[in-house]
Amino acid sequence: MTLRPDSTLSLVSPSISERQQVAPLKLGIMASGNGSNFDVVAQAIQDGQLNAQIQVLIYNNPSAKAAVKAANRGVEAVLLNHRNYQSREEFDEKIVQTLRHYDVDWVILAGWMRLLTSVFINAFPERIINIHPSLLPSFKGIHAVEQALASGVKITGCTAHIACLEMDSGPILIQAAVPVLPDDTAETLHARIQIQEHRILPLAIALAAYSSKVTLSLT
Ligand code: GRF
Repeated sequence: MTLRPDSTLSLVSPSISERQQVAPLKLGIMASGNGSNFDVVAQAIQDGQLNAQIQVLIYNNPSAKAAVKAANRGVEAVLLNHRNYQSREEFDEKIVQTLRHYDVDWVILAGWMRLLTSVFINAFPERIINIHPSLLPSFKGIHAVEQALASGVKITGCTAHIACLEMDSGPILIQAAVPVLPDDTAETLHARIQIQEHRILPLAIALAAYSSKVTLSLT
């Protein structure tokens, strides 16, 4: 963060010019729905807050609005419809092949509503990041927001984590808490959770990439 746009002083090291010399992360984003998380990652890149490029968006639902968002941003989008594959493994093979074709090194599950098999997880070990609308390990799976409401918790939130084979599990990168208000519906609560998802997902990507480098250089 620089003190002023024209300042030569910097509060944080490395400075922006140093950071730009590092090769951008090559992201593959996977989404089944609206794609608001896809969009915030794309915006963070455009704003220079995340040193990355989106190589491809993979979507599995022909009507996913995420595909429109990708088109608006000039990102290539590939439809892989799970209904056209005999098994989850065969579907995941095709996903891995596509991600490799686009030279992806980090995979972001931004509202990907399919279970993952070991075919996929083992192809990108420790390199798959998921965003989930609850404070994991509470309320895994679909309808996480409805589960939170039904349980009567007063605080819920969202989690960005490294994905592993077990659904909505794996090392937590960042969480954000959101209060449950007395008159909340699933829609109003989810909308407030999404505001926090949009804050933490780009940060989690940067954090995961940085941590993996630090770990590598220590071993
Ligand atoms: C998000 O709430 C995410 O946590 C969940 O699916 C939703 C996707 O939202 N996994 P969007 O399509 O990014 O708007």
